[in-house]
Amino acid sequence: MSNLQSVDLSELALDYDAKRRMESQDFEKLLGYMLHYGKVGGDALEIGCGPGYYLAPLAQRLPKTRFYGVDITDAMLASAKDKMHQQALTNCSVAKGDAHYLPFVDHAFNFVLMSQVLHYFENLPMVIAEVYRVTKAEARVLVVTSSHLQLKSQLDIALFPGLAKRDTARIPSIEEIRYLFENDGFAVVAAVEFAPTFRFPSIEALVERTALKPWSSYQLFSPEEFTRRLRIFKGKLHKKFGDGEIAYLFPQTLLFFQKVHHS
Ligand SMILES: C[S@@+](CC[C@H](N)C(=O)[O-])C[C@H]1O[C@@H](n2cnc3c(N)ncnc32)[C@H](O)[C@@H]1O
Repeated sequence: MSNLQSVDLSELALDYDAKRRMESQDFEKLLGYMLHYGKVGGDALEIGCGPGYYLAPLAQRLPKTRFYGVDITDAMLASAKDKMHQQALTNCSVAKGDAHYLPFVDHAFNFVLMSQVLHYFENLPMVIAEVYRVTKAEARVLVVTSSHLQLKSQLDIALFPGLAKRDTARIPSIEEIRYLFENDGFAVVAAVEFAPTFRFPSIEALVERTALKPWSSYQLFSPEEFTRRLRIFKGKLHKKFGDGEIAYLFPQTLLFFQKVHHS
């Protein structure tokens, strides 16, 4: 089954922050890792910034750093602009652009973030070459992704029939990501496992959130197949948890690279 063509990014933009929201202590921990290992400062870019879920809080915390976001989807950019306006952020701006042809001059950035986005790119080596072009010497690059093992252990993916298979087919493995970056002038400086807790007051609440298709791979099922599989998912949840609160870990990997010279 093809993947990019079947994904409607405007649909993914709807209620994006609510679908992805982390508990505040987990979010703070993640920002802490970003700031520490990413050495965020100077000029920073997020590629595929979506609605600015990370960009806006980073800009809040680091008022002297200039943040730029680039994204290909109008609905995502509109909600990022809204957020920046509401929070009166003056050190943050977003623009429409394709990661394969970044609309920035050479050697512009000290830090680049790419979170949950690599699987959208048709030509990942081309995007990495663009990241190399737009970064300064010794710039840090952070890739936020899930390893294939982590994907299979995430409860909402593991229990939804066929989802883990689609996700592992789409999302590049950690080994592949490392190989591609290391072949294009970057070295790994840290690999951090980060596992926020997702909590739902009841099975119904998790099923309701899942019905909003929080991950784009859900869109790869036809509407009828999605409804059928959602019913099976609900049944599996009841079997596993009975009634009551659900809490599960959502492990991800933060891969921090530093730009080095080509050998
Ligand atoms: C799953 S969202 C991730 C958003 C954000 N990075 C986050 O972690 O919350 C993926 C984003 O990548 C954007 N995207 C997909 N293909 C792109 C491309 N070729 N160039 C720029 N952005 C792209 C989508 O529009 C979407 O906003």
